[in-house]
Amino acid sequence: MKKKNQKSLRSVLTLWFLTFTIVPISFISGYSLVLYESSLNSELQKRLDGDIREVAVTITELERTLLLHSLNHAEDPTLVYHVATRNLFSARRVVSEWLKTSLAGRIVLFDREGRLIVSLKREAQNEIRSQTQLEGGDFFLSDELLTHLSQKTQHLVREVKPEKSMELIVYSKILQKDGKTAGFIEEVLELGNSFTQNLGKRLGLEVVLFDTNVQPAAASTKDFFFYPKDYFLQKLGKSNQTFIDINQRGEPLGMIIKKLVDSQNRNFAVLGLAASKRDSEAVLKRIKVTLGTVALLILALLIPTLIYVSNRVLKPIHLLVDATQRIEKGKGPPKLETSNDTEVGLLVESFNRMSQTISQQRKDLEFKISELGQANSQIKNTQMSLVQSAKMASLGQLVAGVAHELNNPISFIYTNMVHLREYMDKLNKLIQTVEKDPKQIAKVKKEIDYDYILEDLPKLIASCEDGARRTRDIVLGLRNFSRLDEAQLKKVDLHEGLRNTLKLLSSELKNRIQVHETFGKVDEIRCYPSQLNQVFMNIISNSAQAIKDTGNIWIKTSQKGSDAFVSIKDDGPGIEKEHLDRIFDPFFTTKPVGQGTGLGLSISYGIVQKHGGDISVTSDPGQGTEFIIRIPVGGPPDESGVRA
Ligand SMILES: Nc1ncnc2c1ncn2[C@@H]1O[C@H](COP(=O)(O)OP(=O)(O)OP(=O)(O)O)[C@@H](O)[C@H]1O
Ligand SMILES: [Mg+2]
Repeated sequence: MKKKNQKSLRSVLTLWFLTFTIVPISFISGYSLVLYESSLNSELQKRLDGDIREVAVTITELERTLLLHSLNHAEDPTLVYHVATRNLFSARRVVSEWLKTSLAGRIVLFDREGRLIVSLKREAQNEIRSQTQLEGGDFFLSDELLTHLSQKTQHLVREVKPEKSMELIVYSKILQKDGKTAGFIEEVLELGNSFTQNLGKRLGLEVVLFDTNVQPAAASTKDFFFYPKDYFLQKLGKSNQTFIDINQRGEPLGMIIKKLVDSQNRNFAVLGLAASKRDSEAVLKRIKVTLGTVALLILALLIPTLIYVSNRVLKPIHLLVDATQRIEKGKGPPKLETSNDTEVGLLVESFNRMSQTISQQRKDLEFKISELGQANSQIKNTQMSLVQSAKMASLGQLVAGVAHELNNPISFIYTNMVHLREYMDKLNKLIQTVEKDPKQIAKVKKEIDYDYILEDLPKLIASCEDGARRTRDIVLGLRNFSRLDEAQLKKVDLHEGLRNTLKLLSSELKNRIQVHETFGKVDEIRCYPSQLNQVFMNIISNSAQAIKDTGNIWIKTSQKGSDAFVSIKDDGPGIEKEHLDRIFDPFFTTKPVGQGTGLGLSISYGIVQKHGGDISVTSDPGQGTEFIIRIPVGGPPDESGVRA
């Protein structure tokens, strides 16, 4: 039998087991993955940071070599001579020779005014080409450069051209022996895509050179040119260095972007180095797979274990539940078998013992109940006979009262009868005298005291009539009281019943108790009249018996709605507090043995209750007692149940 909302223990256990295994496993796995990933990232970052420094050093090395080479070239006497004598042809030949092996890819000569006179460039396959279109034209060194060179012999310029390259340009003064300036030499080293590619290969990284606006100028792969214009600028923001994750053709890369600064801390370019995270991601993936497999394995092991454990625990519990339900239905005590040697086994054993005890106790109880039932029916029989004897006793009292009441008139009728017989005999004698010897009338009249007889006879007859009437009244009252002819439900006047009762009690009340009647307006009551009269009789006679010498009884009637109320109040001694709760109990009496059965009020209560009403009592010792009877005017609710 399962209640609604009742949870299964197995699902609760499963839920808890899973919660306490899966949650920690997931947490530990997730946390270690995050830790591992962040340590991989920081490792990569450290490595790239070191590589950035190496690239910066490489560039500085290149600058230094370029400066040294340029100084050597500027001091070369042949060049000084050719430039000073403006022998451009010979100067071009010298420069052309240098270009074949030099670090710079382009060398330009200027005269002492700064006008471009020779420009040579090394093309692919080491081919030297003269940029004659520039020579002899109006190309001059800028005033800024000339100013710089007027103060020192060499000047380095770094120029980054977006989507092209970064150029390291060294300007050196060509000085004659007398210290005069013969001209200037410009040597250009272009750090383009091939530079970044070589560098990338050497370091095993992707290398990008950006200008100061973080626009790519040269990169180890073209892909870096395809990013949106300000992509890297936004990533770097205002900081000097940043680490980002990018994805290039499905390849996950970790990239460091850092500003490069010169000796005066001025930013001249930005360098980006990116390393593949494929390996670390692969390791990460492998770890994830391993952790997932371990979790699945744990689950796979856990679920059968859980089922086994729950079966082992639940089976005896289910058996116990079934057994308790069997006991509940009153079936015999089940003997549960158990091979379980844990607390569950202990529980089953003590259940077996308990169910045995319960069954034994149930048998005892059933036996006791049947004994009690027998005792109860005996008590009922006794009670019935007691009620019967109570009725007989009250009938006895009533009869005694009535007999006393009847005794008076009947005894004086009886006494009168003696006189009447005497008078009749005398009058008979007179009649006989009249018939035999009429002359003797006067003598006989005198003899029988005829005048007195004539005077006394009507009195005697009136007295007999009176006695007979009183007797008839008493008998009528008795019949009215018992209303034997009215055993059925009838509509009767309550006041009539009360008056009849008082009439029957008149000998008890006479000369001793004054009865005050205040009868209100009450509808006719549907009731069993004789039974209600019995109630009035019980309560009024209780009051009369309670009043020791003289006293008062007040009887009031009234009606409220559909209920009639009869209040019977006396100024007797009242009822003790400790007795008040018990006066309606059968056989409760304070009267001496033989004077009261203690059934009057309990029977009255039963009668009134059967009529659908009730009796209440208020009493203060020394102040008197008031009983209020409430009876519904409409009669008993269930008429079939009302029987005396
Ligand atoms: N008006 C009253 N004043 C004082 N005590 C009362 C009054 N009415 C009832 N009692 C108390 O209640 C008790 C129970 O009354 P109940 O009518 O049930 O029995 P009883 O009068 O003793 O015996 P029975 O009615 O059989 O003659 C009485 O013995 C008496 O002590
Ligand atoms: Mg009584």
